[in-house]
Parts: sequence; C-alpha cells; structure tokens
Amino acid sequence: MNSDILEIIADQKQLNEKVNELAGKINSDYKGKSMIAVGILKGSVMFFADLTRKLDLCKFDFMAASSYGSSAVSSGKINIKKDLSEDVTGKDVLIIEDILDTGNTLYLLKDYILSKGANSVKLCVLFDKPDRREKPITADYTGFTIDNLFIVGYGLDYDEKYRNLPYVGVLKPEIYS
Ligand code: IMP
Ligand code: MG
Repeated sequence: MNSDILEIIADQKQLNEKVNELAGKINSDYKGKSMIAVGILKGSVMFFADLTRKLDLCKFDFMAASSYGSSAVSSGKINIKKDLSEDVTGKDVLIIEDILDTGNTLYLLKDYILSKGANSVKLCVLFDKPDRREKPITADYTGFTIDNLFIVGYGLDYDEKYRNLPYVGVLKPEIYS
C-alpha cells in the first residue's frame, strides 16, 4: 500500500464487484437501447473503462469541466475545458463520474447536456458524499456512499497524484493540511 494512504476503502475485488453490479442495473434499465456514455475527465477514466466494457451498447464521449462562482448561488457558471464531440440531439446520455461531492459541477453539466437536446441524461457515480451536497442532485446509479473523507486512487487525485493506484483509499490528512 502507498505510504500516504491511511486505509483502503475499496480494493480491486470490491471495485470489480461494484462495477459488475452497476453494469447489470444499467443494462437492464436500457434493455439493449444504445446510449452515449460521457466520461468526465480526468477522474472517471478507470471507472469509465471498466464499466463501459460491461455495458451492452454504448458510444463514447468525454467532457472536462469545472464549476466556478459562489457555490451558494444557484445560478452557478460552468467552465467547459473540453466539450462533447458527439451530437447528443435526441440521444440518451449516461454521465459517468468518479464522485458526487457538492454537486455543483454535475448539476450544471446535466443541465448543459439537456440544453444540447439530449432525450435523457442519467448520472452514474462510483462514490457519493451526500453530506457535502450544495445542489439538489442525486445520481441514478451510485457505487459506494461514503462519509466526508478525502479519497484517492482508481482515477481520483490529490494535486494530480495517486490517480494510478489500483484501489481507493483515504489520504492521510497530513498530506493536504
Ligand atoms: P463537485 O461535486 O462539483 O463538488 O465536484 C466533484 C469533483 O471534486 C469530483 O469530480 C472530483 O474531481 C473532486 N472531488 C471531490 N471529492 C473528492 C475526493 O474525495 N477525492 C478526490 N477528488 C474529489
Ligand atoms: Mg473530477
């Protein structure tokens, strides 16, 4: 285990089992209907790669974005660093993201994709920290619901580090404080 990690909260086996469980639900809900899986860069890459190879039918697209402005204001702004490359008009979109935290980014992204004419936009997140929420948004598919802990690995970073860890662990507080 990396010496900056306090404890592992999801090892490779647990991640694999969770991905299989989520893919099963998604496949049964979409019942062979094609959708566009939109991975949010960069944190979702591992989860995106593992989940999509278990899905029956999907196309790939990616976005990179961040929210800015006061999070206390409901009309936040979104800074799109990489936009969709597919036309989503009339399409069913499944956003795949690493973690739902305050919800500011995903709240705006969902709205943005709907404004591009998508028929439906659903949200799949590997981790959810509901105690941190600032926007009224819930995921349609959630892997693990966790307390307010800062986690890294399997795509999740602190200062661009630890994304390559094959497990998810809690970062030692002394690393970021
Ligand atoms: P929010 O929901 O708009 O606050 O933003 C969620 C984003 O914050 C995620 O996509 C992550 O990039 C980042 N984030 C939130 N919590 C964590 C964490 O525990 N570890 C690593 N990144 C996190
Ligand atoms: Mg992210």
